[in-house]
Amino acid sequence: MSDKTVLVTGATGLLGRQILKAFQSNEWNAKGTGLSRADGQTILKLDLSNDSEIEKVLNDVKPQVVVHSAANRFPDKVDADPEGTRRLNVQATRTLARLCAQQGILLIYISTDYVFSGKPGEAPYEADAQTGPTNLYGQTKLDGERAVLEEYERAGKDGLGVVLRVPVLYGEAEMPAESAVNVLMDVVWKAQGEDAKKVKMDHWALRYPTNTEDCGRVAADIATHYLKATDKSSLPKVLQFSSEDKYTKYEMCQVFGEIMGLNIDKIEPNTEGNDPNASVQRPYDCHLSTRALKELGIDVSTQDFVGWWRREGIRNLGLMVCFASSVPIGPDYIPVVGVELGRRSLTAGLTEMDWYEFRIIV
Ligand SMILES: NC(=O)c1ccc[n+]([C@@H]2O[C@H](COP(=O)([O-])OP(=O)(O)OC[C@H]3O[C@@H](n4cnc5c(N)ncnc54)[C@H](OP(=O)(O)O)[C@@H]3O)[C@@H](O)[C@H]2O)c1
Repeated sequence: MSDKTVLVTGATGLLGRQILKAFQSNEWNAKGTGLSRADGQTILKLDLSNDSEIEKVLNDVKPQVVVHSAANRFPDKVDADPEGTRRLNVQATRTLARLCAQQGILLIYISTDYVFSGKPGEAPYEADAQTGPTNLYGQTKLDGERAVLEEYERAGKDGLGVVLRVPVLYGEAEMPAESAVNVLMDVVWKAQGEDAKKVKMDHWALRYPTNTEDCGRVAADIATHYLKATDKSSLPKVLQFSSEDKYTKYEMCQVFGEIMGLNIDKIEPNTEGNDPNASVQRPYDCHLSTRALKELGIDVSTQDFVGWWRREGIRNLGLMVCFASSVPIGPDYIPVVGVELGRRSLTAGLTEMDWYEFRIIV
């Protein structure tokens, strides 16, 4: 039995699930919390808007580390419920930080690249660069960062409260809609057939899709590093992790189309940038510098975006129909288990190696 215990909030979410797994595979005792999807066993039910529930979970689990991943991060839901979002993203974060700081628990607060304005010419952003969120989601996450750092400073526990910013995420998902990247697979799929409607896809803003498994590993590495450090007050308070894979959303659709052997003629690239006179400016490029992590000696390498999708992506669609078949590859006909997406065979988009991988997956 390990002597290290971590508590991961939002462990039923896209990122929290992978953070929990990363700690488990590093032999931590790992407990997660969720709300609507909590199972009451590995994932405890915790409503973060209830201070006494937070206190009770901390007392029951007695973690040395808390990774705070729970948040409202869907911009439309944020705009529809600003008060509820502030309660979760800011007030609950402050309460959690206050209680963790009082008990000397290391808190890793997951934040976002959207704390920056992303104006052309500014990226890459160092961790101490000027912030300037362009939307309410980014503002509440930035306020959450400040709440964590203030509570640890007030408790005299500098170095135990740390912010980890990440950009747009992709990875294993319960549904494509869980991730702003995975969902583009769905967009490509729905753009098939003569009756499919034309859709516009952003081909202006630069994104750095980062894998949730990689983020989980980095969070676990940070926890180990910070717990071991003797002089914690000299450690950076804000860290950033990002892939270097750069794509517009339209380019991601191109990648998915190629992998699935589907054409994307019905998806039109939209190169329109910001209207300089508009009151709300969209971020153009929020690329995060990973310098602070590198200086700590933490591995910032990431999985290759295209490679991951070729290997793992199809089975994350949840649309697979398996069929037994045989295809002519090389000198012989090799029996394989194939994959069909709805009525469209994927054979056109597959290489020999892919077929072998699909055989293993299925
Ligand atoms: N996804 C991205 O592309 C992205 C990019 C940058 C930064 N981030 C940051 O990464 C973190 C994780 O994001 P994610 O994509 O994993 O989010 P997600 O999939 O939407 O998951 C949100 C999690 O928060 C929990 N939750 C919601 N309301 C709660 C409440 N009142 N009390 C307790 N738990 C509550 C949910 O529990 P139930 O589902 O069980 O109700 C779920 O586990 C967030 O802090 C986000 O700001 C995400």
